Formats: sequence, C-alpha cells, structure tokens
Amino acid sequence: TPPEVIRNFCIIAHIDHGKSTLADRMLQVTGVVGERQMRAQYLDRMDIERERGITIKSQAVRMPWAVDATYILNMIDTPGHVDFTYEVSRSLAACEGAVLLVDAAQGIEAQTLANLYLAMENDLTIIPVLNKIDLPSAQPQKYAEEIAGLIGCDPADVLRVSGKTGEGVPELLDRIVAEIPPPVGEADAPARAMIFDSVYDTYRGVITYVRVVDGSLSPRERIAMMSTKATHELLEIGAISPEPAPTQGLGVGEVGYLITGVKDVRQSKVGDTVTGERRQAAQPLGGYHDPRPMVFSGLYPIDGSDYPILRDALDKLKLNDAALVYEPETSGALGFGFRVGFLGMLHLEIVRERLEREFGLDLISTLPNVSYDVRLDDGSEMEVTNPSEFPAGKIASITEPVVRGTILAPSEFIGAIMELCQSRRGTLLGMDYLSPERVELRYTLPLAEIVFDFFDALKSRTRGYASLDYEPSGDQEADLVKVDILLQGDTVDAFSAIVHRDKAYAYGVQMAGKLKELIPRQQFEVPVQAAIGSRVIARETIRAIRKDVLAKCYGGDISRKRKLLEKQKEGKKRMKMVGSVEVPQEAFIAALSQD
Ligand code: GTP
Repeated sequence: TPPEVIRNFCIIAHIDHGKSTLADRMLQVTGVVGERQMRAQYLDRMDIERERGITIKSQAVRMPWAVDATYILNMIDTPGHVDFTYEVSRSLAACEGAVLLVDAAQGIEAQTLANLYLAMENDLTIIPVLNKIDLPSAQPQKYAEEIAGLIGCDPADVLRVSGKTGEGVPELLDRIVAEIPPPVGEADAPARAMIFDSVYDTYRGVITYVRVVDGSLSPRERIAMMSTKATHELLEIGAISPEPAPTQGLGVGEVGYLITGVKDVRQSKVGDTVTGERRQAAQPLGGYHDPRPMVFSGLYPIDGSDYPILRDALDKLKLNDAALVYEPETSGALGFGFRVGFLGMLHLEIVRERLEREFGLDLISTLPNVSYDVRLDDGSEMEVTNPSEFPAGKIASITEPVVRGTILAPSEFIGAIMELCQSRRGTLLGMDYLSPERVELRYTLPLAEIVFDFFDALKSRTRGYASLDYEPSGDQEADLVKVDILLQGDTVDAFSAIVHRDKAYAYGVQMAGKLKELIPRQQFEVPVQAAIGSRVIARETIRAIRKDVLAKCYGGDISRKRKLLEKQKEGKKRMKMVGSVEVPQEAFIAALSQD
C-alpha cells in the first residue's frame, strides 16, 4: 500500500466515554465487521478486561474507507489506565493522529488530558470529538468550548457523534482522512518497525504488533530485535481486519502483526525496534525502555503446600506479561512465597485475580510498597523492595520515586484537594482553569503516598467529581524510617513498613491497635509493640486468658474438652507461631488488608 493512502490513528478517551462502542461502530460503517458479526466490545479479548470494563492490551485494526480514493485506516487501541502509561506512549508513537473522544455529558477527565498532552508532545494531529450526543443529558455546546479552549480550535470544529446510533461516524472517518497526515518513511532504507504491543497466544506463541517506519518486512525473512540482538525467522506477517490475515509483507507506514514462534513476550518487547537480520538499521527508533515495576508486594499461598503451584502459575503469567517480575522470598510469619513487582495497583489486582481464578490459589499479599534506593554511610548503595531488607546500619540517604500528578475537578473543591495533597507530602506545580467551573491542579507527589488509596480519598473529598492521572517523574530524597511490629518482643516481618518519619507513629499505633483486636488471648500476656530500630513508639497489650473463665465455659472434663477444642481449632483455622504466640491466619489477612 502506498503511504499516501494510509492513516494511522488512535482514540484517546477516558474509561466509559465510549471508545469501544465507537471503535465497533467504525468497524461496522467501514464494512470490516458485518451487522450480524458485530460483537459488543470487539477489541477487548480477555475476560478480565471485559468484566472490569478496561482495555489492558492494545491492538490494531485495518479498515478501508473510500473518499476520492480508497484509504487504509489503521486504528491502534490504547490502554486506558495510569499503570500502562509506557504502553500508551508507544501506541501514540505508532500514529500520526489521535481522535480525542469526550463524553458530551461528562466533559474531559484527567486521564484523557494526560494522554492528550502526550499526543501533542508527539506532534500528533488531534481531532476533537464529543461522543454520546444522543444522551438527553449531553451538553455539547459547553464541552465543545472547553475542548476548544484546551487545544486551541474553534468550538464549531469539535465533531459531534454517537457511537450508539452511528450519527456522525462517517463524518469522523472523512475527517481522519482529510486531516491526519499520511506516514512518511524511507522505502529503500533498512527496515525499522516499532513494536507497540506483544501478546502471548497459547496456540501461536507471541503475536507482535508493529508499525513499520522505514523499509519493509516480508514473510520468511530473518529479523533482528535491536535491543537484544536476538534474531528470528518471520513465520507469518499480516494485518488484522478484523481477524489476523497473512499478507505479502508490510511496508512504510503500515501496521500489522508478526509471528516468529517465540514463546515469551520478553523476547518481543514493547518499544523495541525490529530490523532485518541481513540489512540491519544503524539506529533503533527512539523511546524504548524496559518496563519498570513500581509497586512490590509479597505473595504467599495460604496453604503452604500450594507453593509449587504458585511458582508455576507465575512462570505461566510471565509469558504474556513483560512487566511482571518476581523472586522467591521467605517470611518468618508467612512461610515461602514470592516478592512480586508490578506496574501499579491495578496491575497487582489483575495478577492476583488471575492467580486466584485461573490457578485456584488462595493468597495472602503483604502491604504493597514502592522501591527505595538506600545509600549507607560507607558509600555503598542498595535497592530495597522489601521492608524487611531495610538496612539496620548507618544510612546516609534514602530516595523514593515521585510522580507528576494531574487532578481535574470542579473549582469548588480546590481547598479540599490542596489539603489532601499537602497531607500526602505533595508540592503544587501549577493550577489552570479549563472553564470558570473546572480546574486542573498539577502536583509532585511521592508514589508511595498516592499509589494505594489516594484515588479513593480524592473521590470522597470531591463527591466523586475529581479525576486523577500521574506519571513517573524521577526520585527524591526523603526522611524515611522502617517501622517494625513486635509480638512479645519478636519482629513479625510481614508487618514491617517503610514510612515517612512524620507518619511512623500513626502507622505504629494503627497496626498495634489492629493486632490487639485480631489476635486471640493467649495463656500469657502478649505485648504488641511498634518500633523504629530499638525505640518503641507504640504499645498495646493482649491480656492473658483468665483460668476461671475457661473453667466456667467448659464444665466437665476440662482436659478432654480442651484437647477436642485444640483439634477443632487446628482444622478450622490455621495457626502460625510467632515466637511463642499463636496467630490465626485470618489475623494476618485482616491486618494486611488496607481497610
Ligand atoms: P473502556 O473500554 O472501559 O475504556 O470503556 P469505553 O470508553 O470503551 O466505553 P464503552 O464503549 O464500553 O462505553 C461505555 C458505556 O457508554 C457503555 O454502557 C455504552 O453502552 C455507553 N455508550 C457508548 N457510546 C455511547 C453513545 O454514543 N451514546 C450512549 N447513550 N451511550 C453510549
């Protein structure tokens, strides 16, 4: 296909603003999917994605659209959650234009705004579109002005469509052809194609989605991955419309898929450049980096004998999740498990859910933490991803990851939002009004302060009206300490946490209080302490069981009944011994849950 008739675009939208519905409608209007075949949510393939209503993996579909000639439109799907910012950036880099899709009853949200900025930085042509204009609650005039102000166009240029009824969709396709520039590349140069997604398929191995920038790729030729230098034979190359179909190759500006038979997405990394083995490009395309886990948690099987199943399950999940990293770890309290790194909290939840659902595992996960760089007095440095590895020696400095957060909300909530960000150690970077009623606030915040429950706190302070997006923004030095929790003088490693010095006391009091409630009385008094190093900062006491209470409850042959009782307990609750203290498994689970 000559590049002049190709248009590569993506749709930038907030969750629920109707991206999937519009994409389906485009496939139907262009005749790629017949009315009958039209399946709801055509682009989302995984069960979890459908149930959660989010798109995790991006894909690409080719559609013909006739104007003066027949054009080839490649629609590249972008993930819609903060955990996947890097994948979004690679999808955008594969396009020349973006449809900015905004719900006409909601207006623009922080996520959309963040991705819009990303698209503008990449010099994409933006086509502003208001969706769901069929809704009685739609306010197209109001939101057209907001969008126009944001991207600097005339409100009249903001297209109005309904993915549901199909109104305005042919006009949108015409605008894509007219306004988005065709791809430019050197047809005779050595091949360079960017990987914007790679998905593991049980039958075919890894399916790699690429956008060709220069040169061309053909079936059976040998290719090389520029970051790893690994070479493979191209078993199949093709395009998706709407099912994968082999082609005679892919040329400049074309978008499609490759199959090489590799079995692990790590061999086909998002952002990497594919070139020919024999005629290699001198320089890879820019923008590649390895996925970097941001959040870590220990995962332990509730039943210790499930450990081998957990290990096999992680090995399997890794095949289609390049960002998943893990290593074995042992906890005095929880036994054998793994320290697992995730892109963010959603990624963590998805992995957990898959382990439980697809592999039938019951798991305990420790409180998630970010990773810290610790420099010791002797000049040595270490990365800490597990609080129990926090060095006891003299610490010179500690740095923690920070993010740049964008919050969008009605202006009446400015005070409440600032207060929240302040309490989370945030620094205000700037504030802009999108309209008299809506404001955008930009903050630098420590990742550890926002990754777990910040969004919920924000929602509850703004009656659900605020939206949030953030992206990694380097590291900063911080005054952090490790708080240990001790039961009768023994540290329970699963409860150790790295927190800011100002918050150490609150964490200690809260955890000691929780455990006092959760751990049943023993034959002796059990002190529950929180400590920084050897300094105790909080203390609770679990009182001993009084002998007469026992006697009253179980009249008759006490020793026999007690034995029975012990047996029952063994079967019902699994007890863990921490020193000489019996702690029921449920107490760990409850204490580690975040509410
Ligand atoms: P994610 O896949 O979660 O990112 O969501 P999405 O943006 O793809 O939204 P989706 O297409 O799933 O639509 C979200 C909801 O809005 C669904 O209940 C749709 O039926 C509804 N919806 C989508 N487009 C329209 C529209 O044009 N009009 C109306 N009335 N409802 C729509």
